[in-house]
Amino acid sequence: MEQVVQICKIKGLPNPSRGGAYFLFKLHPLFMKEQTFQFSYEVYNSSDELNDRDAWLLNEARDVTKQAYAPYSNFYVGAVAKLINGEIVAGSNQENASFPVGICAERVLLSTISSLYPNTPIDTLAVSYQSEVVKSDHPISPCGMCRQALQEFESRTGPIRLILGGMEGKVYIIKSSGQLLPLAFTSEELG
Ligand code: THU
Repeated sequence: MEQVVQICKIKGLPNPSRGGAYFLFKLHPLFMKEQTFQFSYEVYNSSDELNDRDAWLLNEARDVTKQAYAPYSNFYVGAVAKLINGEIVAGSNQENASFPVGICAERVLLSTISSLYPNTPIDTLAVSYQSEVVKSDHPISPCGMCRQALQEFESRTGPIRLILGGMEGKVYIIKSSGQLLPLAFTSEELG
């Protein structure tokens, strides 16, 4: 009861001893249903454990970090995709003195793919990075904005398999990029 009085004070609700707020808080757990989101992904100790095609694609992404324009963060990201039509397309992060103008490697890549090969599904997309500040010895995973972009690309063309790795160290493989964005806001909401 003490706790309910505290909650009512914090939320500006009426004193529970006089009104319904108490019952509201008491009964709430009966209606609440807990849902769980779970996804699994593959973890490799290094790119040496990948099959030849995946190792090759990740190495391409490592290479493409050299084409990044990142004078402000000194964090160079490379992304390379293999499309189902067999084409290989690359992207890297492109920054700007007006910081928000900068674009992540993943979104540069998605825009390029969509422009060159509209509606072509991506089979696998590899991401790697290089930095003057931190060691590139573990995978990075796409930022929130890129997850949103990946999700919409996927919804149009099909699952995008992700290979995430640094210059060395562990590598993650995720079956479908949409798994990184549960409860996504999608185009369906707009009718
Ligand atoms: N960045 C990417 O390009 N991809 C990611 O997955 C994470 C971050 C870029 C954005 C910015 O240019 C720099 O890395 C530092 O955040």
